[in-house]
Amino acid sequence: MVSIPEYYEGKNVLLTGATGFLGKVLLEKLLRSCPKVNSVYVLVRQKAGQTPQERVEEVISCKLFDRLRDENPDFREKIIAINSELTQPELALSEEDKEVIIDSTNIIFHCAATVRFNENLRDAVQLNVIATQQLILLAQQMKNLEVFMHVSTAYAYCNRKHIDEVVYPPPVDPKKLIDSLEWMDDGLVNDITPKLIGDRPNTYIYTKALAEYVVQQEGAKLNVAIVRPSIVGASWKEPFPGWIDNFNGPSGLFIAAGKGILRTMRASNNALADLVPVDVVVNMSLAAAWYSGVNRPRNIMVYNCTTGSTNPFHWGEVEYHVTSTFKRNPLEQAFRRPNVNLTSNHLLYHYWIAVSHKAPALLYDTYLRMTGRSPSILFLFCSLNHILVQLHFSKIFCEFITYCYILISTLQHHGSKTTWTMYVKKNCTSVKKIVSNTFLDLLSRLRNIRYGFNTILVILIWRIFIARSQMARNIWYFVVSLCYKFLSYFRASSTMRY
Ligand SMILES: NC(=O)c1ccc[n+]([C@@H]2O[C@H](COP(=O)([O-])OP(=O)(O)OC[C@H]3O[C@@H](n4cnc5c(N)ncnc54)[C@H](OP(=O)(O)O)[C@@H]3O)[C@@H](O)[C@H]2O)c1
Repeated sequence: MVSIPEYYEGKNVLLTGATGFLGKVLLEKLLRSCPKVNSVYVLVRQKAGQTPQERVEEVISCKLFDRLRDENPDFREKIIAINSELTQPELALSEEDKEVIIDSTNIIFHCAATVRFNENLRDAVQLNVIATQQLILLAQQMKNLEVFMHVSTAYAYCNRKHIDEVVYPPPVDPKKLIDSLEWMDDGLVNDITPKLIGDRPNTYIYTKALAEYVVQQEGAKLNVAIVRPSIVGASWKEPFPGWIDNFNGPSGLFIAAGKGILRTMRASNNALADLVPVDVVVNMSLAAAWYSGVNRPRNIMVYNCTTGSTNPFHWGEVEYHVTSTFKRNPLEQAFRRPNVNLTSNHLLYHYWIAVSHKAPALLYDTYLRMTGRSPSILFLFCSLNHILVQLHFSKIFCEFITYCYILISTLQHHGSKTTWTMYVKKNCTSVKKIVSNTFLDLLSRLRNIRYGFNTILVILIWRIFIARSQMARNIWYFVVSLCYKFLSYFRASSTMRY
């Protein structure tokens, strides 16, 4: 059987989402490990006044590509940036670009998606479902297409207890939903969204489930594979350990814990933290496309790219390693000593959120308002709470059945299991390096809240105590009279001296 680099030799690969977290790593790894790949068409949209070409230049000039630059300085020539807005009809491709793509693409990696959990349903459907449908239509016209690789999420069916490596029936027929969205106004769409998504936690998960069905149904004549990563974190080994470029997901939590602003999380200590390093996801995607390309399996291949069942790591362990790493190697200008309280008790969790997250934020924002500045701290805590809510669903339900051993055994790989302790430590040191200065400024201001907030809390509790208990009142009067006597004595003795 041909090896993976041999399979990609001379192939033209089309990649969506190349400017995103996963897409960048995939682009780098493909060009580094398969140096004889012919070309990579990256579908990129114009954004913030930058052309797709400028955006690609920016991506490949980042640190992630340093190793590739050393090993293969000419890699740039293989990347062809193509202007494409995936939410537009026919992906907004020009006729010439479309022709080139149709004539020459051999393998497609579809990574682009909106990963915003609270995206409104119309936009989530537009990108995650309709754009996928459009890409499949394009793929069907391709003359030399060998594999269509779709990146989904392991939580697409998180409403189920056991998640096998199959495409389950969708919550609704995607075609019917798309038709209905055409005549509904935004207000109506927002009103029915909770009913539609039902027992799925958000529109992202819901639309990713619909996209899988679209890929299965409409890509029936194509050679399709689906990779379903769980929670994607910093790189484990490649191109170097600890690569991360944003604070979404687990890295945001690590930094918040290190700064002492994350005080509580809703999880039990032994809930699975199904983290998966980004380079593992990328390796699996490249290997899965190779497997389908070489073996041409009759059925759609689905891979749960998760760690919970093969190499479990629990939220209690994450909490321990993150806080102990940051206690030993503290972040600058931390708000409090790192200490995260995991609780599965609903009431306790909301109590700690109110007391340790929201109240200090409100207090400081009031201070900012009173001093004529714009409030910003509550926004920071809301973003943090948003990540917590996002991750919550991942901690309770699912057990993933992972047969990616098919791939592992085919590759004759006996690789070591990810050493989570080292992984989390490396991740913490990496996030430490990329915390921006603005973030640091904000946090340094936050530190003062703690003293103010604790003082007010003590006064309030004491006031309530005095109002309710005779004994507390007696102690209070005793302390006040003692202070008074001490002051009188002090005054009398100082007058006597003169
Ligand atoms: N990150 C995770 O933890 C995780 C977990 C499970 C599954 N996944 C899946 O992995 C894939 C990649 O996720 P990610 O974390 O890399 O997301 P990401 O960083 O947000 O990247 C999303 C990519 O999609 C592109 N995109 C979005 N809207 C577009 C549009 N209208 N036209 C063209 N391109 C558009 C973005 O381009 P711009 O730069 O132009 O916005 C970006 O390149 C997704 O399918 C996601 O569902 C991710």
